Amino acid sequence: MEGKDLLSIADLTAEDAWRLLRLARDLKQVGARPLLAGRSLALVFEKPSLRTRVSFDVAMYQLGGHAIYLGPTEVGLGQRESVTDAARVLSRFVNGIVARTFKQSTIEELARYATVPVINALSDEEHPCQALGDVLTVWEHKGDMHGVTLAYVGDGNNVANSLLYLAALMGVHIRLASPPGYEVQPERVAWATAVARQSGASITLTADPEEAARGADVLYTDVWTSMGQEEETAIRRVAFARYQIDQRLLSLARPDALVMHPLPAHHGEEVAPGIVDSPQSVVFDQAENRLHIQKAILAELLTASP
Ligand code: CP
Ligand code: NVA
Repeated sequence: MEGKDLLSIADLTAEDAWRLLRLARDLKQVGARPLLAGRSLALVFEKPSLRTRVSFDVAMYQLGGHAIYLGPTEVGLGQRESVTDAARVLSRFVNGIVARTFKQSTIEELARYATVPVINALSDEEHPCQALGDVLTVWEHKGDMHGVTLAYVGDGNNVANSLLYLAALMGVHIRLASPPGYEVQPERVAWATAVARQSGASITLTADPEEAARGADVLYTDVWTSMGQEEETAIRRVAFARYQIDQRLLSLARPDALVMHPLPAHHGEEVAPGIVDSPQSVVFDQAENRLHIQKAILAELLTASP
């Protein structure tokens, strides 16, 4: 994968995903290792972040390299400077670009003009690094991925899209329960369905959170209102009121089911108060695994010199 971009989970094969997972597991064991000594990484963020920003920065440090955070007021992508110029300038300085943008098209434009790898750190359409860290977490807790049933309850958003794609690649049975009008787009389901035919995964779409949760190995949810959708908050609170992970929904899943959430969480909205702290919750393992998977992603993609 050296020199390649990671814009979408659809850029990966199942073998790529497994290579990243195994490398993340190994790097988690060894801690710091100077695989990227002398390398630099730009973190170009149009939106706030805790986990993604800190995990990429620490990952670069632990790999012997260096990260430079560039927030919205510093670059002004598409305003102070065109995306295409920023991509070409950054490519002269750094060995990789991690970008969190409002639009997926901005990341794609960066990748088209950059001569170094570009990594999607969340857009309106996908959050591939999150999905990879999440699968690492499920793998650690369940010992396998094949045959695991993951129920995603909530918005058919960036997190859901990347999870669906990765589940389809890895043979995970995924059930998506979203309110009408907030489902994952049909063309994404079609892509995943075609991939699932090869991997043995299955995809179930429903509007009923209970149908999704029954007998599941993992209950996963995300915020009802994503960054950039703040003006829809009130209408979404009404639409998603039934789509909360609470003790009653959890009681329908397997007794050893995991509760997962990418964080930040809105306690009392998509998760009932206390759910994140329940014994079945692995949300902080998920957060930690962002670091280990970022190290694997960087070590795989960024080994070329400038
Ligand atoms: N889960 C996640 O991406 O968190 P941040 O938005 O804090 O980076
Ligand atoms: N769907 C959320 C994920 C945050 C990590 C958002 O885009 O805001």
